[in-house]
Amino acid sequence: MKIIDVRNVTWIRDDSTILHDVSWQVESGEHWCIVGLNGSGKTTLLNMINGYIWPTRGQLSVLGHTFGEFDLRELRKSIGWVSSSLQQRLYGSETALNIVLSGKFATIGLYDDFLQEDLTKAYSLLQLLGCEKLTNRRYDTFSQGERQRVLIARALMASPKLLILDEPCTGLDVFARELLLNMVDNITKQPDAPTLLFVTHHVEEIMPVFKKTLLIKEGKIFRAGDTLDLLNTELLSDFFDAPLDVERRNNRTWLLPSSNITEEKLKEDYVNEH
Ligand SMILES: Nc1ncnc2c1ncn2[C@@H]1O[C@H](COP(=O)(O)OP(=O)(O)OP(=O)(O)O)[C@@H](O)[C@H]1O
Ligand SMILES: [Mg+2]
Repeated sequence: MKIIDVRNVTWIRDDSTILHDVSWQVESGEHWCIVGLNGSGKTTLLNMINGYIWPTRGQLSVLGHTFGEFDLRELRKSIGWVSSSLQQRLYGSETALNIVLSGKFATIGLYDDFLQEDLTKAYSLLQLLGCEKLTNRRYDTFSQGERQRVLIARALMASPKLLILDEPCTGLDVFARELLLNMVDNITKQPDAPTLLFVTHHVEEIMPVFKKTLLIKEGKIFRAGDTLDLLNTELLSDFFDAPLDVERRNNRTWLLPSSNITEEKLKEDYVNEH
C-alpha cells in the first residue's frame, strides 16, 4: 500500500495556480524531507494530504483511501501534524503531561477520561522526546525547542501512521535544533514508527534517516527521489537559483553560498542603487 499517492494534482485559487500538476508517491517504510523556499507550496500540499483543501484537478489517496470515497475525519485520526499554527492554539496553563494526553483525543485541552495505559504511554513519549523535566510544568513556561518536542510527543499519542512535521526547527538555536533532530531520529527507530514527512527550508536538517527528498519550487515538483542523488552542487544551485557550494559532513549536506555570490549580489545592488 502506498502511504501517499498524488497524481497530477493542480490547485488554483483566485486565478493563481498554487500547485501545478504535482505527482508524488510515498511508499510504506520511507521517510521524506520536503524542501522549498517560502511560498513554494509545501503547506498547501500538506493541507491537501490532510483533506483540508481539494484538488482543482487530479487525484490523491492517503493511507490507501481515495479522496471523495471515505470519511476525512477518520483519516485525520491516522495523521499527526505538528505546525506553528497548532503551537499557538494550545492553552498556556496546561502541563506537558496534559498536552500529551490530549493528543489521544485530538482536543485542545484535556476533557476526556484517560486510562492508566494512556498515562504510561504519555510518560514514555515525554521521555522519548527528552521532556521528562517538563511533565508537570505549564506550557507557557517552555522554550521554543521544548514546545516543539512536547507537540511531537502529543502527536505520537494517537499512534499515527503518518507524522508530518512542518518546519519544526524554526526559531531553534543550533543546539536545540540538533537535539530536536536527534529526537526525530529516535522516533524512526521505535517499533511501529510512523512514516515521517519533515518540512524544512534548510538542507542541513536532512538527517540520514530521510532517504527520500522532495524538492518543490513555485508550486511544481522540481525533483523527488533518493536524497543522495539530489543534494549535489549543480542540482541545488539550480534549485535555489544561486551558486552554492555543498559539503558533506556527518552524513548530512551543508550549503554554503559560493565565494562569488556575495560579490555578484553586491554588484547588482550597487548597480540598482546608482
Ligand atoms: N487559501 C489560499 N488562497 C490563495 N493563495 C493561497 C492560499 N493558501 C496558500 N496560498 C498561496 O500559495 C503559495 C504557497 O503557499 P504555502 O503556504 O503552501 O507555501 P510554503 O511552501 O508552505 O511556504 P513557507 O515556507 O513560507 O511556509 C503562497 O504564495 C500563498 O500565498
Ligand atoms: Mg509552510
